[in-house]
Amino acid sequence: MTAAGNPWGWFLGYLLLGITGSLAFINGGHIINGEDCNPHSQPWQAALFLEDDFFCGGVLVHPQWVLSAAHCFQNSYTIGLGLHNLEPEQEPGSQMMEASLSIQHPEYNEPSMANDLMLIKLKESVSLSDTVRNISVVSQCPTPGDSCLVSGWGRLASGRLPQVLQCVNISVASEEVCKARYGPVYHPSMFCAGGGQDQKDSCHGDSGGPLICNGSLQGLVSFGQAQCGQPNVPGVYTNLCKFTDWIQTTIQAS
Ligand SMILES: *[C@@H]1O[C@H](CO)[C@@H](O)[C@H](O)[C@H]1NC(C)=O
Ligand SMILES: *[C@@H]1O[C@H](CO)[C@@H](O)[C@H](O)[C@H]1NC(C)=O
Ligand SMILES: *[C@@H]1O[C@H](CO)[C@@H](O)[C@H](O)[C@H]1NC(C)=O
Repeated sequence: MTAAGNPWGWFLGYLLLGITGSLAFINGGHIINGEDCNPHSQPWQAALFLEDDFFCGGVLVHPQWVLSAAHCFQNSYTIGLGLHNLEPEQEPGSQMMEASLSIQHPEYNEPSMANDLMLIKLKESVSLSDTVRNISVVSQCPTPGDSCLVSGWGRLASGRLPQVLQCVNISVASEEVCKARYGPVYHPSMFCAGGGQDQKDSCHGDSGGPLICNGSLQGLVSFGQAQCGQPNVPGVYTNLCKFTDWIQTTIQAS
């Protein structure tokens, strides 16, 4: 989100600075010590653009609906699906869709940073293919120690975007660890993952992007400490097992 910045992230990060150190939404975050994903191995991965600027990740959960973080809200979006490289013209099999209806969870940010999810309705359904596919949302809550894959195109430390989608495996952290790290803002709508000692598995992709555990969508990248990739500092993910009803009923009603 180069032009628009990430006002909510920075604003909230600023508000929360005194409480927990420098929390920030991960619009500007990046996968640390990850690697290039195998092309099109994450066919549910969406890229949200505002004009031509990439600003958040998302996940195709239905042929006409993308799930993302509520703090990625905009009035309209261009959404790229089937991308590996962020440049659509370089990606046969990609589909660029327009969207103007997005529905934030009604309790987003109540309390601060909680319930960070929204649904975005594409103007029309995508054609499902080898490179574009929806993924199911888990109903089971995560178990500490589960290994999960997070993916995204977040900015690199240099400030530049990576050429292609980045993937990294991280482990789900216990609620105790998550509470200890994020105490004042910890909420059951969140869980933590990453924070391994080797830092290889300790970071996150872009806001709104997927955390996949055992083949299902378990979390969305939400926020973390502004400095990412520190040992013992897991990132925070939207705990989607708490929202399966809301997701289903919202899609059915809209
Ligand atoms: C994709 O969406 C369709 C329509 O809702 C659904 O029937 C199908 O089960 C979904 N696929 C997965 C893998 O969730
Ligand atoms: C993540 O773990 C899975 C299962 O162990 C493995 O197949 C995959 O290559 C790993 N991916 C990355 C990017 O480390
Ligand atoms: C992973 O998913 C498969 C089926 O999708 C299931 O049979 C298995 O029990 C799951 N494993 C774990 C550890 O949840």
